[in-house]
Amino acid sequence: METVVSGIRSTGNLHLGNYFGAIKNFLKMQHEHRCFFFIADYHSLTTHPTPKDLHNNVKQVLVEYLACGIDPEAVTMYIQSDIPETTELYLMLNMNAYVGELERCTSFKEKIRKHPENINAGLLTYPVLMAADVLLHKGTKVPVGKDQEQHLEMTRTFANRFNRMYKKEYFPEPYAFNFGEELIKIPGLDGSTKMSKSDNENSAIFLADEPEVIRKKVMRAVTDAGPTKPNQEKPQAVENLFNLMLALSSKETYEHFNELYNTCQVRYGDMKKQLAEDAIIFTNPLREKIKELLSNDEYLRKVLKTGTEKARESASKTIREVREIMGFKSF
Ligand code: TRP
Repeated sequence: METVVSGIRSTGNLHLGNYFGAIKNFLKMQHEHRCFFFIADYHSLTTHPTPKDLHNNVKQVLVEYLACGIDPEAVTMYIQSDIPETTELYLMLNMNAYVGELERCTSFKEKIRKHPENINAGLLTYPVLMAADVLLHKGTKVPVGKDQEQHLEMTRTFANRFNRMYKKEYFPEPYAFNFGEELIKIPGLDGSTKMSKSDNENSAIFLADEPEVIRKKVMRAVTDAGPTKPNQEKPQAVENLFNLMLALSSKETYEHFNELYNTCQVRYGDMKKQLAEDAIIFTNPLREKIKELLSNDEYLRKVLKTGTEKARESASKTIREVREIMGFKSF
């Protein structure tokens, strides 16, 4: 049994790429390990959301994870800002995080390039806050994508530095973790290989999208003029449609259209209609559940109350021990 910790970006609506990636991964491990999944709302402050957006995004993400089947009885589900111990550990770790190493972080350099008007100190110390999230529960496994590997490496650096400085093997080293290899990568509708909402809103099918919206988006998906030779290699955008079909439709449907493609008889209009209907059928139960949960504040409050209690129990133990190791003593 490992302690798994993962932060969920509070960016509002989730899409099918998130579902087949992070969420499926969570679903597979939630009953196998001691899991802490939290919504990283402090991290989102680097981009200065309005108070209304901050709250709505947190709620939407919470609701959608629950709708997808995250089991709040099995995992400790909470909101980062409800655990004050997070900020205490963050402060302590900041003292042993060097500005030079933080400035060399790829994600920070990327932010400087993209948003030179908003290089705040929170961005610089983003990896320290993330380290605090993980170390707070002495996490050993962290389900994250490739883009977070460097942050995790920094978490190990901070953990080891703390242990060395205080001559105590206190924090374990956390490593990236994916449950099984069979996670499918969901492509975008715009020809890109990865469904993403930041690049183009219309490239993503959101879990909460209404059927009409899904139909419109899928019908507008990028294709080409169609194959001219039997068994022709598919261009990326067409390959994407087939991959979406593989994830959302039945095997027979996929093979039917694949055969039509290989014999140069495929009509993309028909294929897209089928894909849209299958996407609607696939998302139907999620959409229903999302709607139901969005209006059930009482249930959400209950889930968060239990989650916060369990998270604080673990966090306050760590902080108590860390304070003692560092030499904080009461008179
Ligand atoms: N930085 C992560 C992301 O952008 C979110 C995150 C915050 C996180 N704290 C974490 C992930 C702790 C794993 C563990 O996706």
